[in-house]
Amino acid sequence: MSTAAMQLDRNVAEFVAQRRKMLINGKWVEAVSGKTFPTYNPATGEVLAQVAEGDKADIDLAVKAARAAFEKGPWRRMTPSQRGRLMWKLADLIEQHLEEFAELETLDNGKPLTVARAADVPLAADLFRYMAGWATKIEGNTIPLSVPYTPGARYHAYTVREPIGVVGQIIPWNFPLLMAAWKLGPALATGCTVVLKPAEQTPLSALRLGELIMEAGFPEGVVNIVPGYGETAGAALSAHPDVDKIAFTGSTEVGKLIAQAATGNLKKVTLELGGKSPNVVLKDADLDIAIPGAASAIFFNHGQCCCAGSRLYVEQSIYDKVVEGVASEAKKIKVGPGLNSDTQLGPLVSEEQLKRVTGYIDAGFKEGAKALTGGKKLGDKGYFVEPTVLVDTKHTMTCVQEEIFGPVVAAIPFKDPSELMTHANDTVYGLAAGIWTRDISKAHAVASELRAGTVWINCYNIFDAALPFGGYKQSGWGREMGHEALELYTETKAVCARIG
Ligand code: NAI
Ligand code: MG
Repeated sequence: MSTAAMQLDRNVAEFVAQRRKMLINGKWVEAVSGKTFPTYNPATGEVLAQVAEGDKADIDLAVKAARAAFEKGPWRRMTPSQRGRLMWKLADLIEQHLEEFAELETLDNGKPLTVARAADVPLAADLFRYMAGWATKIEGNTIPLSVPYTPGARYHAYTVREPIGVVGQIIPWNFPLLMAAWKLGPALATGCTVVLKPAEQTPLSALRLGELIMEAGFPEGVVNIVPGYGETAGAALSAHPDVDKIAFTGSTEVGKLIAQAATGNLKKVTLELGGKSPNVVLKDADLDIAIPGAASAIFFNHGQCCCAGSRLYVEQSIYDKVVEGVASEAKKIKVGPGLNSDTQLGPLVSEEQLKRVTGYIDAGFKEGAKALTGGKKLGDKGYFVEPTVLVDTKHTMTCVQEEIFGPVVAAIPFKDPSELMTHANDTVYGLAAGIWTRDISKAHAVASELRAGTVWINCYNIFDAALPFGGYKQSGWGREMGHEALELYTETKAVCARIG
């Protein structure tokens, strides 16, 4: 690992140097308690910035502001076109500050700056533009009625899609800015108001986004941002009686807590949770693309992707070649601090995640798995883990069943499609899957058998604002992105008028 220093963007240096406040009703305020919490640079383990620590009292104020903005504010009277224009303006501002966001993301999350610049920030801007276009296209239907018990009567009936109301949004740390965009985009397009709680590990880019939201001209109270811990601020938001919907991305464990907390007022819930996605290489695959593809499916974002291709199923006859190939790709990966221009894989986000991921690797070793490459923590500063390929795994092992959320893939050979399908769908998750083959019939046949919200064929980790994303089974409820997301931010009102 090299640690060459880099000159930070001036705005970024200033941003992290000051204590960051929270955004409530258009104003930047301290926590009611006056408390702050530290956010760390995972490449060094050092404190990066101090942030106001939101808790129940702050969530109450933010929900109050969001409620007032929803019921009485100018937001309610704005035309869909005006909402769309504000969102487009926000996208332009994000792009103007691309370098700044990329650096903030790298400092707070650890990901390579080159990746934040090329993926996280442009995808966030694009999401707002895509959703801005939808603001003017949220339509209902006219519905011809027959009503058998009022013979001869005539009706004019129609549906209207109305914003669901005040939305609480709780996001994780793996793509901090992009997750904020995925959540805010459909809420703003449909005319909802929001209380957003960023992850405690990575609050900075959402707070900077809050500044641009105000600069773009969104009315006060439409977006409130309350950083803080999950067990306090997050729990208060998900249990709040005046929140109409919670949208959450994170662990399946916390997803279940959120569903329980929502029962108090039966708020609507959407969840985007964990995964243990099968990535399947068939013997007729083009290995020149399948091998680097399988490596990138797991190692992208250091394996900290809910859809990471973490179970690599390879047809027996090509197993050795593919697994050796993925291991050799892993060895080539340049691991280092995200700010270094040649870094391809940065640190994990936190000490907690470092312990969790190395704990899973060690559990795999205890159960009999071997590392073809990797398998250890790297260096003595920061939270680095070697890209790891586990072989000699069995279907029942923890490292094959549970989400590791690090750069660790379990490779598993299979003899025929029936053996593949027995195992591929046999986890509690159903988020994503990959298939590598030259045979289009086989590709679609396997795609139809896989119980997963996204199936990639001869590619992996392809995201687009237009493509819905979400999980089967315990990987979640509902979808994000695409027009499907909008439906989950609206209520349908049926209006029925007698006209004769
Ligand atoms: P987490 O689920 O605890 O955290 C995600 C978000 O939920 C954060 O904003 C956190 O503050 C909040 N939260 C935590 N407890 C809460 C509660 N009781 N009520 C309301 N909000 C709460 O995930 P964590 O601890 O950061 O990571 C643990 C594991 O979760 C990872 O190893 C990974 O397996 C999984 N994960 C999955 C993600 C995904 O994209 N689906 C993202 C992050 C983590
Ligand atoms: Mg947690």
